[in-house]
Amino acid sequence: MGDRRGGARPPRGGVVFIAVGTPSRRGDGHADLSYVYTAAREIAAALDGFTVIITKSTVPVGTGDEVDRIIRETRPDADFAVVSNPEFLREGAAIQDFKHPDRIVAGADEDRARNVFAEIYRPLYLNKAPILYTSRRTAELIKYAANAFLATKIAFINEMADLAEEVGADVQDVARGIGLDNRIGSKFLHAGPGFGGSCFPKDTRALLQTAHDYEVPLRIIEAVIAANDIRKRAMARKVSAAFGGALRGKTIALLGLTFKPNTDDIREAPSIPLITALQDMGALVRAFDPVGMEHAKAILPDVVYCDGPYSCADGADGVVIVTEWEQFRALDFNLMKQRMACPLLVDLRNIYSSDEMERHGFLYVGIGRKVPSHALRL
Ligand code: UGA
Repeated sequence: MGDRRGGARPPRGGVVFIAVGTPSRRGDGHADLSYVYTAAREIAAALDGFTVIITKSTVPVGTGDEVDRIIRETRPDADFAVVSNPEFLREGAAIQDFKHPDRIVAGADEDRARNVFAEIYRPLYLNKAPILYTSRRTAELIKYAANAFLATKIAFINEMADLAEEVGADVQDVARGIGLDNRIGSKFLHAGPGFGGSCFPKDTRALLQTAHDYEVPLRIIEAVIAANDIRKRAMARKVSAAFGGALRGKTIALLGLTFKPNTDDIREAPSIPLITALQDMGALVRAFDPVGMEHAKAILPDVVYCDGPYSCADGADGVVIVTEWEQFRALDFNLMKQRMACPLLVDLRNIYSSDEMERHGFLYVGIGRKVPSHALRL
């Protein structure tokens, strides 16, 4: 922002974005705001002319007020406004999400700040992305509510998957059947091994902490967090059952370590508790991930890391797909079968179907589909 006409004099004022990390504080799940507050102090020292300070970091309700207070305390003379502008970018799709957002949320309590904000976002607004102006506290809550709602959809469909397995239904058809209802929507209804990453687990916990601070019960979010934790642990039992209940001495080839495709991030990835539990049950774990292995090696040292899906399958008693990387969607199953000791596929992302895999001569176990009785007899 600033003076577009250029000239020798540097523009005064302008816009400063705060986009620092807010990791979970060790011990209590609260968001650690020390980086935000440090940034606020640094900004305060440099303020010159009317400045809009826009917080993009995911911060609990009331943080904008605190940033405001810190700056006002440090620089009582300064002319500024603090705006909350939560981001909804997904890892691995950030540029696309930035250019084509569903909405832009601006929590600004005064008109001057709104005008500057509108000017900054004009190119995206021209692209028809609606800007929703709210109070600052509301914008802060919108961010957590969005992530918590998406996490709830996933936890919900994962529970439906468990039920589908027992009653002989197919969860993917259930997801389609409900998702076609526009009031529900089809997105974030893919059953899997549980959500991970640096956002949903952290933000649901932080939302719960805020609710505790204000003594407001959030039973649904509590249940989502608990259901997701339980689910991640249950995946090892699912794999074990597919192997007939005995894993000691078995070799398992695990495809995908990251919490989702197109990222090297393994934070809170379902692969971590899964591998640890499989090893505890006596299995030897081989693994391949297109980009996540470096990070995984640091926390999962006792895994045999391989350079591709086929070498990973060498001598394995079964393959488990944990992350739906594009390159796992069209595997050559003849080749896989030749290299494996036993043609068993446990597909925790439902990227294949049992009919297709049976044609390849594989025993197949997916998520939320009736478990074939032959898998249990292995
Ligand atoms: C998430 C939100 O989608 C973004 O809008 C938000 O900006 C971001 O958090 C954030 O707060 O910074 P991200 O964590 O990158 O983005 O990943 P998602 O694509 O949302 O996936 C999260 C987890 O849910 C992954 O483990 C994924 O496998 C799982 N998931 C997602 C499912 O199990 N099923 C689904 O249908 C969708």
